[in-house]
Amino acid sequence: MNIHSSEATTAEEAIAAQEALPPLTNEEATNVAMANTLLTPRFYTTDFDEMDAIDVTPVRPAWDKLIAQMKSDPNKGHFKKNEDWDSIDWDGMEPRLKAEFIDFLISSCTAEFSGCVLYKEMKRRGSNEDITTLFQLMARDEARHAGFINDALREAGIAVNLGFLTQAKKYTYFRPKFIYYATYLSEKIGYARYITIYRHLEANPHHRFHPIFKWFREWCNDEFSHGEAFALLMKTDPALTESRVNKMWIKFFLTAVYSTMWVRDHQRPAFHEALGVDPAWYGQEVFRKTSEISKQVFPMTLDIDHPRWVPRLDAMQRANEQIAVGRKQGGIGGWAKRMLGSAKAGFAFVSLLAIPAVGNAVPDNPRLEPAY
Ligand SMILES: [Fe+2]
Ligand SMILES: [Fe+2]
Repeated sequence: MNIHSSEATTAEEAIAAQEALPPLTNEEATNVAMANTLLTPRFYTTDFDEMDAIDVTPVRPAWDKLIAQMKSDPNKGHFKKNEDWDSIDWDGMEPRLKAEFIDFLISSCTAEFSGCVLYKEMKRRGSNEDITTLFQLMARDEARHAGFINDALREAGIAVNLGFLTQAKKYTYFRPKFIYYATYLSEKIGYARYITIYRHLEANPHHRFHPIFKWFREWCNDEFSHGEAFALLMKTDPALTESRVNKMWIKFFLTAVYSTMWVRDHQRPAFHEALGVDPAWYGQEVFRKTSEISKQVFPMTLDIDHPRWVPRLDAMQRANEQIAVGRKQGGIGGWAKRMLGSAKAGFAFVSLLAIPAVGNAVPDNPRLEPAY
């Protein structure tokens, strides 16, 4: 008898539970998940030995508390359809909204699973008990999240083939410190994204066009804890956040993560309209929350109120539209459009990077609780 992915205690069990479900024609969904562009979720690999060598002694009390909290597993069984799951008329959904929403679910599923694959591999390769325990717990959570999104997709007759993805998707190598910056930020921005939508729909329930949003509060608490773990990992080595070079890298990752989110969200106008959310408002709101949280460990925040910030993000988004048009058009004309678009996007990114950051005095103890 197979268990449901939400009840699984390890990532392996959760993936097996998904694989055991009846097969679906999912080639298209899996192809979308397989795509590797600057804007699609990637799979990462790293120097696992270096990560295995981390000594968490400097943050021991906070570490033990966080691990105990994750082990107590408050969300076991949560990521499963129950009586709160309203039935959805997929065939009656406005076609543009349906396409954008499915794209949102597939890319969210890929992003969740990307975390799962990386964390699971760290657990498998490591021998440091502190590290392997943490990564096994985080892999468990991400596998449940990905499994739950796949359950939602199945109702539309689609599923992402997680096993195939693990085997076939290209892996990008990041050295451990880049994994810390990128993954810490993606966990915290994930928290901020989910909680902002959850609170907005709590106040405006008529915009909740799909039941999955009801699950976002507990969901974002998982992501919050994962971010906490990376904050503690970074705290074990002060140079990671204090050296001049690393400060530049942190600014680079903040700018890259924020601007990618902006561009991606603006590609889904019908989805945001259905939610009753202006993507520009949403973007700034999420950046504000993420910046506030990241003060726990990053020595600076981006100046998102700078007069150049939003105009340059918009310029980047227009450049990406031009790239997409060029790709569709093909031929030499399409190629020229793509090149021009890439140059404009690059220029906008450099211009965003050039905005002076706002300094921040980092507290000794980074631990935070979800407060939004
Ligand atoms: Fe997740
Ligand atoms: Fe996470």
